[in-house]
Amino acid sequence: MHDHLSNAKRTKNDEYYTRRSDVDAELTHYTSSFEGKVVYCNCDDEGSAFMGYFVDNFHALGLQGLFCSGIAGGLFEYDGDKATVSKIDGDFRSSDSTAIMQQSNIVVTNPPYSLFRPFFTQLLENEKDFLILGNKNAVSCQVVFPAIKDGVVRLGYTAPDYFQTPSGTLANLTGLSRWFTTLPTPGKTYPTFTATISDGRDYQQFDLYPALNTDRTSEIPCDYDGLLGVPISALDKLDLGKFELVDLIARYAVIDHSYDTPCHQLTEINGKPRYSRMIIRKLNPQKWKEAAYRVKTIESQKSIETREF
Ligand SMILES: C[S@@+](CC[C@H](N)C(=O)[O-])C[C@H]1O[C@@H](n2cnc3c(N)ncnc32)[C@H](O)[C@@H]1O
Repeated sequence: MHDHLSNAKRTKNDEYYTRRSDVDAELTHYTSSFEGKVVYCNCDDEGSAFMGYFVDNFHALGLQGLFCSGIAGGLFEYDGDKATVSKIDGDFRSSDSTAIMQQSNIVVTNPPYSLFRPFFTQLLENEKDFLILGNKNAVSCQVVFPAIKDGVVRLGYTAPDYFQTPSGTLANLTGLSRWFTTLPTPGKTYPTFTATISDGRDYQQFDLYPALNTDRTSEIPCDYDGLLGVPISALDKLDLGKFELVDLIARYAVIDHSYDTPCHQLTEINGKPRYSRMIIRKLNPQKWKEAAYRVKTIESQKSIETREF
């Protein structure tokens, strides 16, 4: 029963449709990425805002081809002149849909929230370029964070707040959604951090991880070269040309497991865990080597040695 209910809730959360104004607002930043490309919107039944955008802008973008298919099984193909509609297995994991994805250059869609992880994995495994909407918390998932850390995937420019529901009403999901893309995001601007380590705030170190905690993005100190633990939401505001993503910690670390400690969370400070923290460091190779980290131990824990990273 419980499974049935949570399944129903999950699939209900999949039925949030993207508004055309939100597609336009994000896609306008990537016009140079689509020249000569074949686009596949693989979670898009007829009438989706993505399909509308690419049909309307096919020639302006210089597209070579467009495929759209959705779970209902309709496959829409457009070459800028003729449109055809046929039937396929519209599950993005099906062999029909996978074959079209493999022939296409860029996948653009808002996939079902409940299947974001396999959707993202499939695109990475096929080394496909993409621009997709997802829940911002997906940043912390095992497949997504390493791709962002390695610079393969980045967040887009905008964050849609409202989605259309099947009943025609608008759902307010303010703050939840982000665009994830492999496409370049030139001209994206970032705030400058002005807080300093010496201005009186108490930057505490995690008990088991050699980084200082910041609870708010605005508190990221501009004068600290060591490791910092910052909220996941800081990713929107971090210029990854200036900061390195080192790891993501919660119960365990996503990348470097040498700090993982059974029965404790790596975000604990005086025994109290914080939410997940991204571990970042100012990108300044000279200073990395000079950075020394305070070391804490707690009873029955392995001691953490000061390390050079
Ligand atoms: C978040 S909605 C977005 C729909 C559309 N892309 C848009 O942006 O308006 C995700 C859609 O994917 C559909 N879906 C669910 N499972 C799917 C699957 N395995 N393959 C393809 N589409 C799926 C859902 O029914 C839902 O309509």
